[in-house]
Amino acid sequence: MNTYLWWRDGVIYQIYPRSFADSNGDGLGDLPGIIPRLDYLADLGIDALWLSPIYPSPDRDFGYDVSDYCNVDPRYGTLADFDRLVAEAHDRGLHLILDMVMNHTSDQHAWFQESRSARDNPKRDWYIWRNQPNNWQASFGGKAWEFDQPTGQYYLHLFTKEQPDVNWRNPAVRQAQLEAFRFWMDRSVDGFRLDVFNAYFKHPDLPDNPPKFGLRAFDRQKHIYDIDQPEMLPLLNELRALLDSYPERYSVGETYQASPQKTVAYCGPDKLHAAFSFDFTSNELSFPWNPGWIKEQIARREQIFNKAGVWPTTVMSNHDLPRAASRYAKGEQDAQARIALALLLTLRGTPFMYYGEEIGMRDIAVRRSEILDPPGRKYWPIYKGRDGCRSPMQWDNGKNAGFSSAKPWLPVHPDYLQRNVAAQAADPDSLFHFTKKLLSLRKTFPALQGGDYNPLESPPGTLAYLRSMPEQSILVAINFKSRTTEFVALQGKWQLLLSSHEESTGTLAPYEVRLAIKES
Ligand code: NOJ
Repeated sequence: MNTYLWWRDGVIYQIYPRSFADSNGDGLGDLPGIIPRLDYLADLGIDALWLSPIYPSPDRDFGYDVSDYCNVDPRYGTLADFDRLVAEAHDRGLHLILDMVMNHTSDQHAWFQESRSARDNPKRDWYIWRNQPNNWQASFGGKAWEFDQPTGQYYLHLFTKEQPDVNWRNPAVRQAQLEAFRFWMDRSVDGFRLDVFNAYFKHPDLPDNPPKFGLRAFDRQKHIYDIDQPEMLPLLNELRALLDSYPERYSVGETYQASPQKTVAYCGPDKLHAAFSFDFTSNELSFPWNPGWIKEQIARREQIFNKAGVWPTTVMSNHDLPRAASRYAKGEQDAQARIALALLLTLRGTPFMYYGEEIGMRDIAVRRSEILDPPGRKYWPIYKGRDGCRSPMQWDNGKNAGFSSAKPWLPVHPDYLQRNVAAQAADPDSLFHFTKKLLSLRKTFPALQGGDYNPLESPPGTLAYLRSMPEQSILVAINFKSRTTEFVALQGKWQLLLSSHEESTGTLAPYEVRLAIKES
């Protein structure tokens, strides 16, 4: 490994701005709310922030329907607030990346308003219009085509009908989108997360997708014509050249319909720096969680990423999935949440930590009548949507968990009275301190950043591996079970770096997470 690189060796923390901190008492988080929390984030030990969309948006998909790429939604603040946030973050050594949502715009974007106004409007071809729909399905439910009465044609939308897909084949669109990247880099943004980037291009003839077995209509198609078209690669080359024309800028892609094989194909020195392969979040309906499954997932990604020479990313939670603590922990017990954090922070790859993950925030329960998220409204009760994992950050046990002086846009989790940053900061045995310790070990020991991953044989119910460099070797041993388990003796002398239990002996205590370093 060469010298430290923030996006490879550091930890990136995802802020969902609506839910992080509200400075002006309107129940929605905002940019000025984030600024006083930067010291908290720097002290926690993270290295960079990813902000979910902050642009003006009618919120039909809560910010992922953008109506102006080069501005800040007035509910979140102003461009001046944004500049201040970037400067204050940089002062603390924190990098900042933005979410670019460029597969589609909002239907309220000026481009779409023009495009839909007349068939001969110069921006008509900025979107994808046809006389007849094909069989494509929107991933949020229903057909991917919406008939627009005034001009008598259908437009394509892979998500909600308020999110029309732009036509990346039109050179003027391409130029306008690339200008938006430039706009933010000129404001000192350190990089971008690209929303569903591999859906930008569709097959030029828009053929029907072939059928396959699946639950929802969307899953009953092989997505071979609506995503992953070859034209994406030259675009990534162009985008990378643009990023590289500024110092140390970063790009991470959200691979839509991800697999590690697909993900690595989009990464490299002239493509994206990284892309998500979502190895530990599986699919939306099943989340296996046992050492055997996890070990297999790690082996698979290690093999594929290593072979391709691509640096992986690790994700346990984000704004689209039930939180890891809700998936795997029972009630308020934190044992499995601790394990998920240990994996996040000790596997090979850049960790993406989701706000509140450091204190084990759980999803809120949302009644049907309260669901805001479009796919949740469509698919309830099979799928309840993503509101659950987007609840307000739990800062303290005061009103609205210290998030806002007004009623928050989503309810605060009722466990906030006990589960909050202030309470956990005061308790040395809390998840918060466990996270902080792991973050500090990761910073101190380069083997935890760039070391190889070497799996070890270990008894059933446990997982063990080494993160090794020629001059440093660190053991990570995890017991997933509620019973004490014998642990294989390792050659040489090992010094304990961390244990979630007081007594660390030759055995692993129930749910123990142990890190040790080999003494030379
Ligand atoms: C992926 C984002 O992560 C998700 O939140 C959003 O709804 C869709 N893309 C559409 O932009």
